[in-house]
Amino acid sequence: MITENAPAKINLALHVRARRADGYHELETLFAFVADGDTVTLEPGPLSLTITGPFAHGLSGEGDNLVTRAARAFADRFGVAVGGALTLDKHLPVASGIGGGSADAAAALRALARLHEIAIDDPRLFEIAAALGSDVPACLLGRTAMGQGRGERLEALEGLGGMAALLVNPGVAVSTAAVFKAWDGVDRGPMPPGDVLAMALGGRNDLEAPARALAPAIDAVLDALAIGDPLLARMSGSGATCFALYADEAERAAAAARIRAAWPAWWCLETRLL
Ligand code: C5P
Repeated sequence: MITENAPAKINLALHVRARRADGYHELETLFAFVADGDTVTLEPGPLSLTITGPFAHGLSGEGDNLVTRAARAFADRFGVAVGGALTLDKHLPVASGIGGGSADAAAALRALARLHEIAIDDPRLFEIAAALGSDVPACLLGRTAMGQGRGERLEALEGLGGMAALLVNPGVAVSTAAVFKAWDGVDRGPMPPGDVLAMALGGRNDLEAPARALAPAIDAVLDALAIGDPLLARMSGSGATCFALYADEAERAAAAARIRAAWPAWWCLETRLL
């Protein structure tokens, strides 16, 4: 059995620079990953997908799941038989801006590459990833990176490994397409120069305003995260998950305890950056 982690992705900053003729948006986004996420396992056999874990109910194991689409695309591209008994242990909330489906698809590609002895940096894997979704290449790379284009043109960067992080989701699923569609079309400029922390602190998430308009619960999450003096509190991706970064684990634990007491229904993950 092959096991691959599918770490949650966060966008430390996400600048939307332009609407494109193909319906996508030109981005400048700083990807980072955290130490927790879903898990994908692969065993030889006919293609199947079993979904377990606390967020299994949000998904169907039918053919449209990004994991089975990844397995079919892999077989197509590498000329091998379609197959693999895949299990997805789902710990990340669905449609929540932390790349769950993309992380799962990337983990499935990594597992299949190991099974078929394909190098993990084979450019064909990145081509499959980009065709599956804008965030899948970043999840395949799985490390801090600057993403441009749809998010698929990547440059790996020295990350903030070990930094204490808190991820909070109010239980509202948000449609990525709807949030991008509600963006006001104003280019607010590039990320400031400097290292990853400088870019993150001086950056923005331009999808925050449209997402907040569609899902007001995000306001409450950002208000809750702003208490307790985090280094940074921001929405990830198209929401609704927001994250905060802290100078140490004690500050993160205090913030998590306060949020869990005030908002027991929210999903709240204490983790660290990879
Ligand atoms: O690429 P993916 O299928 O994950 O994107 C989902 C939706 O998000 C797209 O259909 C598009 O509406 C929007 N999107 C965008 N610009 C990007 C990435 C995604 O408009 N760079």
